Amino acid sequence: MSIFNCNIIELPKISDPRGNLTFIEGERHVPFDIKRVYYLYDVPGGAERGGHAHKGLHQLIVAMSGSFDVLLDDGHEKRRFHLNRSYYGLYVCPMIWRELDNFSSGSVCMVLASNLYDEDDYYRDYATFITQVKAGGI
Ligand code: TYD
Repeated sequence: MSIFNCNIIELPKISDPRGNLTFIEGERHVPFDIKRVYYLYDVPGGAERGGHAHKGLHQLIVAMSGSFDVLLDDGHEKRRFHLNRSYYGLYVCPMIWRELDNFSSGSVCMVLASNLYDEDDYYRDYATFITQVKAGGI
């Protein structure tokens, strides 16, 4: 898995003078079935989230409000994305270390995930993650 498998997805946007509408359908707008939604909010200034990789989970990260940065790292290369529009999502494939920071005041980070929460799916130790990448698997 490479960070070049991770990309910004432009979501449908129905523009309307009454307010815009965006929708996301699993396996159509994102390359996985959506099994879970969670969101980060009330993030204090200067806080960092993430700091882990997933063995098998696919995710789409959306800045529903405000902005933040996502640093992706596949063990070989790193890429930083700035998310600040609710009609763009960042697709993150399995085996990618991610760190989220630079949260603006009042920002909301929504994550769509391909599976239910499972602590066994996490690498929370960077050295262990790198060892697994070098071993060529999960
Ligand atoms: P974690 O995934 O480490 O958060 P982040 O990557 O956003 O910094 O999760 C933080 C805590 O919340 C951890 O104790 C696990 C728990 N958690 C759940 O119980 N269910 C979930 O769906 C998620 C994402 C986390």
